[in-house]
Amino acid sequence: MLRVAIIGAGTIVGQHIEAIAQIDRLITVAVADVRKERAQEVANRYGVKAYTDYKVMLDKEKVDIAIVALPHFLHKEVSIYCANMKCHILMEKPMALDVEECEEMILSAQRNHIQLMVGLTQHYFKENRKAKELIRQGDMGELVMINDARHQNYFVDTRPEWFFHKSQAGGGILTNLGAHSVDKIQWLLDCRVRKVSAHLSHHGNRGDIEGSGSVYLVTESGIPATIVQSGYEGVPRHETHLIFTKGMLLLETGRGLWISEKGSYKEVPIQETSGPYILQLLDLLDAIDGVRPLECSGEYAKTVNSVIEGIYRSHELGTEVVI
Ligand SMILES: NC(=O)c1ccc[n+]([C@@H]2O[C@H](COP(=O)([O-])OP(=O)(O)OC[C@H]3O[C@@H](n4cnc5c(N)ncnc54)[C@H](O)[C@@H]3O)[C@@H](O)[C@H]2O)c1
Repeated sequence: MLRVAIIGAGTIVGQHIEAIAQIDRLITVAVADVRKERAQEVANRYGVKAYTDYKVMLDKEKVDIAIVALPHFLHKEVSIYCANMKCHILMEKPMALDVEECEEMILSAQRNHIQLMVGLTQHYFKENRKAKELIRQGDMGELVMINDARHQNYFVDTRPEWFFHKSQAGGGILTNLGAHSVDKIQWLLDCRVRKVSAHLSHHGNRGDIEGSGSVYLVTESGIPATIVQSGYEGVPRHETHLIFTKGMLLLETGRGLWISEKGSYKEVPIQETSGPYILQLLDLLDAIDGVRPLECSGEYAKTVNSVIEGIYRSHELGTEVVI
């Protein structure tokens, strides 16, 4: 049995603990959060121990895997601490504030011979996996573009304050939700993004982060993609359109997948699978067991951070940026 502890008992903690409960080889032993009542509340709900200091927790609990679900500015220092304690790490996305931090984290994981995985959950949604399978089959001809659009009111009162400050979050909607979009495009195409042009807006009522972005990307294989995200008021939307020479796919991650047929969309039947938070932990276990290397490794996640950096640089410079 591998002992898991979670650092950061905020919004996302329940997803991790509930996934661990579905895997026989894993047990959650403790959570740590600087907010004592919150740590205690989560600990009581799931029957685990509560700590306010993650270092004390790691010292006392003999942890095999640490899941880090903290504000982004803490990812690097906590990752390095966990690696030095010889814990394998599942780090929430985005990996860190910038590429330089990612590199330090990768080095410390290598030095300590531990697995460093980043929670890029797009790889584990069943409709995303089906879309990737259809791209590979090639029945729709050549893929000519991907257009990813996401609209969601980002400036809601329930969002924790740190998300609105560039120094703590790294950026706004393009960092937080953009990490998923960049990852989705790279993973679906098995190809890295090579060039980025971006224009952002900053009209949010809190903090100093961007509230929208229009991004044009080109992959190493020359396929163009767009990411359009807005966090102002409006109608929620989360759609990825894949355009081929002989058809189209509409992917709504978490909802379903549709394929064009005679001028309209038809839903693609998809087999049930375990949820994304379970599947990502199974991937981490395979890497720990030496079955296969991590798909969402620190090295891969760094490429997502480098595209996000490119997005901000392109907006500042007003030019295309080569990644
Ligand atoms: N994969 C996904 O789809 C997904 C979804 C939501 C969040 N996330 C990611 O998960 C991470 C956490 O996000 P969240 O929404 O849960 O944030 P949150 O603000 O709700 O939770 C963070 C928690 O960390 C605690 N904390 C702060 N400093 C600490 C410290 N030094 N030691 C221990 N605890 C400390 C805070 O008190 C808070 O409870 C972020 O990286 C976020 O981007 C990923």
